Amino acid sequence: MILAIESSCDDSSISITKIDSLKLVFHKKISQEIEHSIYGGVVPELAARLHIEALPKILEECKEYLKDLKAVAVTNAPGLSVTLTEGVSMAKAISIALNIPIIAVNHLKGHIYSLFIEKEAIFPMTTLLVSGGHTQIIEANSLNDMKILGKTLDDSFGESFDKVSKMLKLGYPGGPIVEKYAKNGDENRFSFPIPLSQSPNIEFSYSGLKNAVRLEIERLERTTLEEQDISDICACFQKTAVKHILQKLKKLFKQKTIKNFAIVGGASANLYLRKELENICLEYKSTLHLSDLMYCSDNAAMIGRVAVEQYKQNDFINLEDLDIKSRLKDY
Ligand code: KG4
Ligand code: ZN
Repeated sequence: MILAIESSCDDSSISITKIDSLKLVFHKKISQEIEHSIYGGVVPELAARLHIEALPKILEECKEYLKDLKAVAVTNAPGLSVTLTEGVSMAKAISIALNIPIIAVNHLKGHIYSLFIEKEAIFPMTTLLVSGGHTQIIEANSLNDMKILGKTLDDSFGESFDKVSKMLKLGYPGGPIVEKYAKNGDENRFSFPIPLSQSPNIEFSYSGLKNAVRLEIERLERTTLEEQDISDICACFQKTAVKHILQKLKKLFKQKTIKNFAIVGGASANLYLRKELENICLEYKSTLHLSDLMYCSDNAAMIGRVAVEQYKQNDFINLEDLDIKSRLKDY
């Protein structure tokens, strides 16, 4: 079995996965959403302190499996440096105490493998990764052969939901809140410009849209901003944010045949986005793959799933070489 630790942002999570059968024998996650909510976003120092409390608590719950471990895995990049450090320190301690090797896992590969928890992997898989830190299209051919076909020039998809929610004083994380309000809104009331619609490149941008939403909120606030106005803003923003993705994906689908397409990352839980992507995949005869909703946001099960593959390749890292990388040059 492999024990995996995830602490790249505001979720403390530990999983235990069987190497041969891929069975997830233990998985627990403690989220810090309530603690960060009053600040409208993740406060790194607070997140790190909460990981120090949560990780040992979770470890205590799975200690019966410690004797069966063949390796310990940990997310070491990308993420918030102060929070990654907490997971990495725990992994080093476990490695020394049990005399087992360490596997360093890339968080973004983890999101891709969230599709394959307790399942065999399917490749090639063209994947849209939409999270709080990333918006990318990745062509994944295997664990060690992944290429970025397009990414955001500024904010990420999930982050733009967080910012709109903050501007409307609705709380954090913004994604599920904005999606909920949007359900009761009129998505045709405001017309926000679709980002980069004239650009032939497959790339994303959310800062202009965020600004357009901000100006509309300020305009409405000069009179009164009612519940219905909030819902309408959320609906129009969500529609435009998703349309931007669809426009770019259409370009990609026209350029190449994509047999398997997937959406992963925290924001892939958005049902409006899922529905629209179902339609585009139908149109271009591509099979749409989705992670279970419980594995969309950050979790250690996906890190453990990647670690099983790395274990089979003997991809271990020396204790003294294991470092955190908050940003990755190629990602
Ligand atoms: O993957 P994740 O848990 O953490 C990162 O690696 O960033 O993604 C969290 C992000 C947050 O920005 C959150 O607002 C967004 O995913 N998110 C959503 C939804 N649920 C979570 N965005 C849009 N719609 C949702 N339903
Ligand atoms: Zn993530």
